[in-house]
Amino acid sequence: MTVQHKATLSFSDGTPSIEFPIYHGTVGPDVIDIRKLYAQTGKFTLDPGFMSTAACESKITYIDGDKGELLYRGYPIEQIAEHCDYLQTCYLLLNGELPDEAQRLDFDQRVTRHTMVHEQMARFLQGFRRDAHPMAVLVGMVGALSAFYHDSLDINNPEHRFVSAIRLIAKMPTLVAMAYKYSNGQPFMYPLNHLSYAANFMRMMFATPCEEYKPNDVLVRALDRILILHADHEQNASTSTVRLAGSSGANPFACIAAGIATLWGPAHGGANEACLVMLNDIQRMGGVEKIGEFIDQVKDKDSGVKLMGFGHRVYKNYDPRAKLMRETCHEVLGELGLHDDPLFALAMKLERIALEDEYFVKRKLYPNVDFYSGIVQKALGIPTEMFTCIFALARTVGWISQWNEMIADPDQKIGRPRQLFTGHVRRDVKPIPKASGAKK
Ligand code: CMC
Repeated sequence: MTVQHKATLSFSDGTPSIEFPIYHGTVGPDVIDIRKLYAQTGKFTLDPGFMSTAACESKITYIDGDKGELLYRGYPIEQIAEHCDYLQTCYLLLNGELPDEAQRLDFDQRVTRHTMVHEQMARFLQGFRRDAHPMAVLVGMVGALSAFYHDSLDINNPEHRFVSAIRLIAKMPTLVAMAYKYSNGQPFMYPLNHLSYAANFMRMMFATPCEEYKPNDVLVRALDRILILHADHEQNASTSTVRLAGSSGANPFACIAAGIATLWGPAHGGANEACLVMLNDIQRMGGVEKIGEFIDQVKDKDSGVKLMGFGHRVYKNYDPRAKLMRETCHEVLGELGLHDDPLFALAMKLERIALEDEYFVKRKLYPNVDFYSGIVQKALGIPTEMFTCIFALARTVGWISQWNEMIADPDQKIGRPRQLFTGHVRRDVKPIPKASGAKK
């Protein structure tokens, strides 16, 4: 962080003007450091939704929305997706560098050895209704980890922070699979150490004790790619929540539970689920024949209908993750012979039509990662209501890396936004006259 310029803020109310340092990052917009604004002027800034506010300094993930670029620790997502698996990506996000072979083996071994959860977690799970949304179960289970793993809760001890990070990365697949098995009444499957991270998760999800389960390599690779592409995405709502919760000194399991709760919202992690719901709706309306009618509804501003899985707040030319997920989508549909399945054929037709339609072209509305990841997950056999859980599983490493970075930051303070108050000024309570016969 270097200071090269200054910004001067002047006021029309007689407050003397004030100078602020401007910092350059290594890339991306400069930031004006307004930390002393209140102390020197008695004024706050107003920025709902943090449209112009950087809340922290970070070295983890960088997005250039105009270029369609996503970098993890400087490495383009395309290269990571091609050359690394999810656990290497986790190592990179957590530690800042890719592992060498010895480091990779050591990290894999540590994660693998922490995949089981305390046996009592299963009894804790039994307290939920069978029809509970799996995200409700996940928020509860991850928060409850802090009740089972007290020995790694000293947030000022880097060794404890590391152990908690490993535990979270290792146990999330087990918890997500437990939530799924609980919902369909099948027995939980214990993790199997000789399988890869993604293959182990697929087995815990889809195997039963009655027969042998052999994970399919193409499908395992697809799941691994979904995890890589969702591993981190800068200071989004759930990540900012994790940082804010952590800024009070809360333990990492509680902070990640807060992140999961935030991710649950349909404006954040719920888009791939919404995309599948939309495809099913079009299918019910009459399928491919009805695409034109549906697109007309989308273009009609009064209808309130959006093409789910299209458009992005940050990526305005294309979503680099979508390109990779599209590739995987075709690989998976080919492997499973699903290209002609009516729902998937509908998705592909919708994609083609929208990409050529002037409404979408003019507004630079391209398919985002969720358009394809919903289709891939559906093809893998993952039920729609589990999609956001898979996102949470993938994003756990991003959350914990950002949390760790925050705890180690000497400038870190408890997050405490201020407000522009427009309610009543001080007034007095007038006692309400009692009705006759009312209790004394
Ligand atoms: N369908 C139809 N019209 C759209 C869509 C859409 N999906 N997205 C944007 N538009 C229109 C919008 O109405 C506006 O039209 P006009 O200029 O005539 O008023 C124009 O395109 C520009 O949109 P914008 O205001 O720049 O878009 P935004 O930044 O406010 O919204 C978004 C971004 C992702 C919320 C929105 O595109 C959307 O709701 N998409 C569908 C939901 C979705 O797929 N979300 C997942 C995003 S990826 C998640 C992740 O990265 O984790």
